[in-house]
Amino acid sequence: MPTIEFEDVSKIYDEDTVALDDVSFTIDEGEFVILLGPSGAGKSTMLRVLNGLTQPTEGSVRIGGEELQGNRSGVGMVFQEHYLIESKTAFGNALSGALSRNGLLRSALGMHDDEDKRTALEALQTVGLLDEAGQRAESMSGGQKQRVGIARALVQNPEIVLADEPVASLDPKAARDVMRYLKKAATEQDLTTVTSLHQVNIAREFGDRFLGIRDGEVIFDGDADDLTMDEMDRIYYGEAQGGETVPTGTTSEELGETDATADGGERA
Ligand SMILES: Nc1ncnc2c1ncn2[C@@H]1O[C@H](COP(=O)(O)OP(=O)(O)OP(=O)(O)O)[C@@H](O)[C@H]1O
Ligand SMILES: [Mg+2]
Repeated sequence: MPTIEFEDVSKIYDEDTVALDDVSFTIDEGEFVILLGPSGAGKSTMLRVLNGLTQPTEGSVRIGGEELQGNRSGVGMVFQEHYLIESKTAFGNALSGALSRNGLLRSALGMHDDEDKRTALEALQTVGLLDEAGQRAESMSGGQKQRVGIARALVQNPEIVLADEPVASLDPKAARDVMRYLKKAATEQDLTTVTSLHQVNIAREFGDRFLGIRDGEVIFDGDADDLTMDEMDRIYYGEAQGGETVPTGTTSEELGETDATADGGERA
């Protein structure tokens, strides 16, 4: 399992938009890391850089000591929108994760060997959906679909799983279920996991380590005990709020106790 290293990474989209500003950190193999930060902080950019979907403007990203160049195999991605094929079964969708292993043509032709099929069933078992393997995605709940999305990522036999707000569109219970299965998969398969989350209280339950990102910089790096209300205020508001002058609905207590999104707004 590889280590992830960011060294002085900047991503500048245009003159005005510095999405990542000289970011350096190391993630050890097997860590379950959650990216926290307000909208526009740079979380998705960080995940896209890690996935090779975006090139950093400056700096170096290494996985397992090797400079990251373009899309790397061994990285599974889970998205907020699950992008399942609705008419396909859970099994068919999970199996489509073998695409990157087998090449597009074989996968498009549905040419999967027994090992792929076994891997897909194992992945569905990992996310608790073996009994639903034959069910079409269109008849599944949002949480189940997202678990199929995780299974599809697992079928790629990844060493690293990246997830960009995987539970943002789910209710708190479904969100916890999905996070529980993501964590279980990571633990069982010793995966290095980096996920962004807007629901701070859910993040606290599952993260081993948190990176707080604000204005493209990592301003917090610690575990759940280190992540005090003051630190959360610093991440989301730029400074401790002290609980006095904060408008209703955005105090850190509420951010910690409810499933409102971190910036106080509701997410569809
Ligand atoms: N393709 C792009 N072109 C130009 N600017 C971009 C692009 N993608 C992101 N940005 C900008 O870069 C900054 C960081 O965006 P990013 O999407 O990484 O934030 P985020 O932390 O994921 O936010 P959110 O919580 O809303 O998903 C923002 O200012 C955003 O507008
Ligand atoms: Mg984002």
